[in-house]
Amino acid sequence: MNSLLGKRILLGVSGGIAAYKSADLVRKLRERGADARVVMTRSACEFITPLTMQAVSGKPVHVELLDYKAEGAMGHIDLARWADMILVAPASANFMSRVAQGQADDLLSTLCLAASVPVIMAPAMNQQMWLNPATQRNVALLKDYQVTLLGPGVGDQACGETGPGRMLEPLELIDALAKSFLSDRMSGLKVVVTAGPTREAIDPVRYISNRSSGRMGYAVARAASEAGGHVVLVSGPTAIDPPEHVRHCPVITAAEMHNSVMAEIDDAAIFIAAAAVADYRCNQAADKKIKKDNDELELLLKKTPDILAAVANRKLPPFTVGFAAETHSLSDYAQQKLINKKLDMVAANQVGENQGFDTKDNELEVFWSGGGVRLERAPKEKLARQLIHLIANRYHEKNTAQAH
Ligand code: C5P
Repeated sequence: MNSLLGKRILLGVSGGIAAYKSADLVRKLRERGADARVVMTRSACEFITPLTMQAVSGKPVHVELLDYKAEGAMGHIDLARWADMILVAPASANFMSRVAQGQADDLLSTLCLAASVPVIMAPAMNQQMWLNPATQRNVALLKDYQVTLLGPGVGDQACGETGPGRMLEPLELIDALAKSFLSDRMSGLKVVVTAGPTREAIDPVRYISNRSSGRMGYAVARAASEAGGHVVLVSGPTAIDPPEHVRHCPVITAAEMHNSVMAEIDDAAIFIAAAAVADYRCNQAADKKIKKDNDELELLLKKTPDILAAVANRKLPPFTVGFAAETHSLSDYAQQKLINKKLDMVAANQVGENQGFDTKDNELEVFWSGGGVRLERAPKEKLARQLIHLIANRYHEKNTAQAH
């Protein structure tokens, strides 16, 4: 699985001779389908120019913390929100020391401190500097702060010495990065996900539908697959390609989605209903195109089957997660839904003008019996991974509790 596809990697470059490898790193990240943005420290600019990094990344390079031009486009908060992961390569002894001490005196160190996503560093320095107790103390501190270190490698150094301190090669870094997006939290579990809108025919050329793009559901399916799940994605019509390694079951109507889910649910461990299922369909779709002869036209609508409720009400339901898209009183409705529909978890998002549907970003309030958490505004792919993490945790907690 190419787990780097579409991932947003913020590549930090600090000042060291290995910075010349960072250009190749960006190129290779892009070859793997990742979206890379580069942030450089001022001393990194002595080793490789921002222009080079801009050319290879195809994006503006960020250097200054308080850059009024960058702030207008993508300031440090936006960058932190955007990233799925921060990789600092090379990480110099000085840069590691600054982050270990909690200093935020330039853009890159600020981003490392402000990050709510994994921070990975690839140290690169002279072997004596690496072995120095001060550096080793900083290494221990960084590990304590959940920073992952990749390398350094051992071998010939630019300064002519031999020993530990070489930055790992770009390919080694990329492989490690790709692995870090995979987990085994849903290993071996069958996960059924619904996504997208449904279409309910009015006549052969018209239908009732909604603005759902399917993006959230597809991102959830992909994240579940990256967590090791065997994912079945039952999807209404969307314009996006299904993720690789996910079994795609395309449907059009709510009734078809219901049938497709029911055919898959018996051995499912987890059900995630991210689809925006049409609540009503025409009682009787016309078999010929309706003519506009009258000023008014009445359509008699009938409720569609509630797929989520049907799954949650089974004798032995899977771990069941619903979504709640509301224009107001979000958390009240969501918590009611959790109880009324007997869900294990509900993920609520505000919808309305430029929010929720058909947008790249979203924010979620997630509730379960006795708890809840707010997932801050972020790209849907990133939210999906956070949600899958929460679902996996709750799923395992519930199973452990039931086993006792
Ligand atoms: O009750 P409401 O439609 O607001 O609940 C939304 C949740 O129920 C979503 O998770 C949606 O996928 C699911 N749903 C469903 N079948 C329906 C309507 C909603 O599975 N017919």
